[in-house]
Amino acid sequence: MTPGPVLGLVASSCGGVESRFVTEIAEPAALRGWRLAVTLTPTAHRWLTTTGELERLRALTGLDVRSESRLPGEERPHPDPEVFLFAPASAGSVAKLALGLADNQATTVLGDALGEPGVRMVVGYQVRDSRFRHPAWQGHLDTLASAGVTTSRLAVDRPWTGVLDLLE
Ligand SMILES: Cc1cc2nc3c(=O)[nH]c(=O)nc-3n(C[C@H](O)[C@H](O)[C@H](O)COP(=O)(O)O)c2cc1C
Repeated sequence: MTPGPVLGLVASSCGGVESRFVTEIAEPAALRGWRLAVTLTPTAHRWLTTTGELERLRALTGLDVRSESRLPGEERPHPDPEVFLFAPASAGSVAKLALGLADNQATTVLGDALGEPGVRMVVGYQVRDSRFRHPAWQGHLDTLASAGVTTSRLAVDRPWTGVLDLLE
């Protein structure tokens, strides 16, 4: 089988990621032909480890599932994707991405790619309604949009899979 295009797939610790990420995002993405280069925030990695979903995720990709930086001298474990999907994205990680804060491997890989010519990025965020009243929130979304990022809110009570359509 010819390997498909690489999708940089990133997830952070939103409620449900520990049980829904593999079924509703990673598996459907692999079925659509993407070769997955997955990076999780440290918290999301811990949650998926606890539920056993990390093993299911690993079985979907021949590449490492990352959550830590490599050691100096180690090979880079992922190719450089031209397409990224960050979903589900927490409010904290969206803010960090917009501000350029790279404090874990997930925010680092996204921050390195954001604004790169030829790179496409979709961010599906799951946040409480109160986030929309936070004075900085809209500015973060506007910053990402100005860099060409497509943003979309994920619903807690509907499958997340629809966000994959935004990659087309
Ligand atoms: C059970 C649980 C569910 C959470 N769900 C969400 C969520 O859906 N959206 C969100 O923005 N934050 C949520 N949070 C808060 C984030 O996990 C927290 O802000 C964390 O620092 C985000 O880190 P990360 O983006 O680096 O994974 C949740 C926290 C817990 C404990």
